[in-house]
Amino acid sequence: MAGGFVSQTPGVRNYNYKLTPKVFVTCFIGAFGGLIFGYDLGISGGVTSMEPFLEEFFPYVYKKMKNAHENEYCRFDSQLLTLFTSSLYVAALISSLFASTITRVFGRKWSMFLGGFTFFIGSAFNGFAQNIAMLLIGRILLGFGVGFANQSSSKNSVPVYLSEMAPPNLRGAFNNGFQVAIIFGIVVATIINYFTAQMKGNIGWRISLGLACVPAVMIMIGALILPDTPNSLIERGYTEEAKQMLQSIRGTNEVDEEFQDLIDASEESKQVKHPWKNILLPRYRPQLIMTCFIPFFQQLTGINVITFYAPVLFQTLGFGSKASLLSAMVTGIIELLCTFVSVFTVDRFGRRVLFLQGGIQMLISQIAIGAMIGVKFGVAGTGNIGKSDANAIVALICIYVAGFAWSWGPLGWLVPSEISPLEIRSAAQAINVSVNMFFTFLVAQLFLTMLCHMKFGLFFFFAFFVVIMTVFIYLMLPETKNVPIEEMNRVWKAHWFWGKFIPDEAVNMGAAEMQQKSV
Ligand code: BGC
Repeated sequence: MAGGFVSQTPGVRNYNYKLTPKVFVTCFIGAFGGLIFGYDLGISGGVTSMEPFLEEFFPYVYKKMKNAHENEYCRFDSQLLTLFTSSLYVAALISSLFASTITRVFGRKWSMFLGGFTFFIGSAFNGFAQNIAMLLIGRILLGFGVGFANQSSSKNSVPVYLSEMAPPNLRGAFNNGFQVAIIFGIVVATIINYFTAQMKGNIGWRISLGLACVPAVMIMIGALILPDTPNSLIERGYTEEAKQMLQSIRGTNEVDEEFQDLIDASEESKQVKHPWKNILLPRYRPQLIMTCFIPFFQQLTGINVITFYAPVLFQTLGFGSKASLLSAMVTGIIELLCTFVSVFTVDRFGRRVLFLQGGIQMLISQIAIGAMIGVKFGVAGTGNIGKSDANAIVALICIYVAGFAWSWGPLGWLVPSEISPLEIRSAAQAINVSVNMFFTFLVAQLFLTMLCHMKFGLFFFFAFFVVIMTVFIYLMLPETKNVPIEEMNRVWKAHWFWGKFIPDEAVNMGAAEMQQKSV
């Protein structure tokens, strides 16, 4: 690919590099972190709705499901069943907290290998599971793998890595690659579930869960083949090796300028001694609030009700098992296609427009879904939904998913990864990933119980949060498109509320840097 970009490595001014190899490696790493995450997100819901799986491990849920005409809302209500889905996200939360330390000590290559290996063992436990304990241990190991794969692309997580690598005017599109990979993983999982569900006996769900070993093996091979990055070598003190590596990646000995930039960047990040203390300073209040609330709100859109439980939800609505899995596949494909709307518009129209438009679309469709289910099933949860009404509900769910796909889905990762300067970046990102995983866990664990107790009102519950988050974005989030990460202070300073937290010097520094950049 022709042309070059201005590097976003701190300390570098107007430095051009060729796009091809970096983009290639970046995409590869980003894609795999997202892919296995997506496969896990998408696979459990379909498996949970397969009768042989329920009969084998959750016979009482199976019995309840068969007698569902008594109360449709409570068909699948079981804490142990939801633990099968949710346990993974607790493990991912824990491992993402220490994965960065392992990466720092052993390098990206070996921590990526470890992630792939853990993931492989997890898929074997699940594919050969004989009891619930094996299922849960498998899911926990998969969670560790996800945490590692998402963290080990650099010291930071995949989204931050992508944001740092991208030129400012394409940062949104680059970063959205992570979300595209997640949804691709989800779609692959729903397609596999659709076919394996048609197999007789226990073989179907075993294949669905066991196939996670394919990306695991690819990650392990990738880790062995891919060279360690120069950044990672420099960080561990192998300066000479880092230079040789850079020369071989670039295919030239003339890498002095880029090499110096990497050393500078590493020095700068070493000087950051207390990111956790820094982020509590008043001048970083906007970042602290955003990195806590954006992932919280992303999960409170209710999206994972669809991601995890679409097949179960569709069965609750009276669909047959095959139709439910097919509908889950359709919603996944729509989510994938609509994510590209964000890829192509986020750097042009900006983050706020997408957040606000997507929020309103989700709100309207959620209210309509809740109202329709309420009218048909009432509070008692008895009754039948006709074919045309059921189709209308699927259509509404697709509209809701489309709204999420170009707003809170990709932007929930993009915005937290682009607003924090180096001195707080690692802490901010750890908060972002942990809050996201924690609420992913909560929704996964509690949804079926909430559905049983709140009934159709559950959709109004999520709609209520969509109102709050849309107002929050409208009032509190300034536009960040095209602004270099290290210049973000200007944006906060100009904001009606956050402005008072930002000292004047912070902005002047940014302006001086900007001036230098445009020289
Ligand atoms: C969210 C996940 C969600 C996925 C697909 C991601 O951005 O973090 O929780 O399952 O999108 O909808």
